[in-house]
Amino acid sequence: MLQSTRTLVSQQQAATQHTKDPAHLIERYSLLHIIGEGQYGKVYKALHRRSGVMVAMKIISKINRKRVEIETYREEMRLLQQLDHPHIIRLIEYFETSTEIYIVTELCKCDLLVYLKRSGGFLRLEEVRGIAHQLVAALQYLHSMGVVHHDIKLPNALIGYDGRVKLCDLGLATQLSKDGRPIYVRALKGTPLYMAPEMLRKSRYTNKADLWSLGVVIYELYVGKTPFRTSTLADLKYNIMEEDIIWPKQIPSQLKVFLAGLLQRDQGKRTSWCKLRRERFLHSDDTEEEALAKDAAAEENMRNHYNNETKKIRLG
Ligand SMILES: Nc1ncnc2c1ncn2[C@@H]1O[C@H](COP(=O)(O)OP(=O)(O)OP(=O)(O)O)[C@@H](O)[C@H]1O
Ligand SMILES: [Mg+2]
Repeated sequence: MLQSTRTLVSQQQAATQHTKDPAHLIERYSLLHIIGEGQYGKVYKALHRRSGVMVAMKIISKINRKRVEIETYREEMRLLQQLDHPHIIRLIEYFETSTEIYIVTELCKCDLLVYLKRSGGFLRLEEVRGIAHQLVAALQYLHSMGVVHHDIKLPNALIGYDGRVKLCDLGLATQLSKDGRPIYVRALKGTPLYMAPEMLRKSRYTNKADLWSLGVVIYELYVGKTPFRTSTLADLKYNIMEEDIIWPKQIPSQLKVFLAGLLQRDQGKRTSWCKLRRERFLHSDDTEEEALAKDAAAEENMRNHYNNETKKIRLG
């Protein structure tokens, strides 16, 4: 009988925690084909045999990897287990053998880079607005949990079979204080094309680095190219830190204001969370009050839907 991903999540997490021999866990899945490839592992579409649920399984080899690198994956899993949001990829289970790490998550259709290519290289304004809304919700949740993602880019945002955008790949994420104190990080993490200037300068940076990367992603979705491009890393760094952004002539003003706020080199002047939620671009032609009211209602709706879905599945 077919089950949903969510039922599988609770069953598998319970089972994995109690098993003494993780090696046999892999036998519960049939690997179908590769759907993604990273620096250290491959992501497969796989079938959970007993339930018939399709999942994504990332397999990472432990051979020739440093202890600290393997611990990073464990950290990522500990973090994912704590997160529960409609726009963050859901972890189903995680296990290790002596040679490999297996990470099983809900299966999505594709990542945003693939989606952009399939869509002809750029997206319509309304679609960009919808995606921006969801990424803002995901980041707001992460930051409220004291987590900085550090690697926001098109390949790390997936489109689910429910049409929702889901952030994945929290391998570089850092969990910091939840008490509202400013968050400062120093380690250099992320992908240069999407990196905030303060990261490239190796100065102290905050969770606002994620907002810069969000600006790069949204620009790319609308324009079809990232705002700063060159062939060499040195030129790229210079452009991100110094060059003016090239704005296409026909860019709608609300989108330009939204992006210019995110792509502010000075962290202090970069759009704050408070301002971001009120951004006119995210709310189409509404007045500010209408926008805030709609935003609150939409969030409430989504929460209710999400909770109801969970209840239904648990009862079913
Ligand atoms: N749940 C999923 N559903 C569909 N595709 C996925 C899923 N997870 C990952 N992918 C695909 O695989 C690619 C690589 O996955 P991911 O970003 O998690 O790993 P990575 O970049 O290799 O990570 P790492 O930095 O740990 O090496 C993604 O860009 C995406 O295309
Ligand atoms: Mg990735």
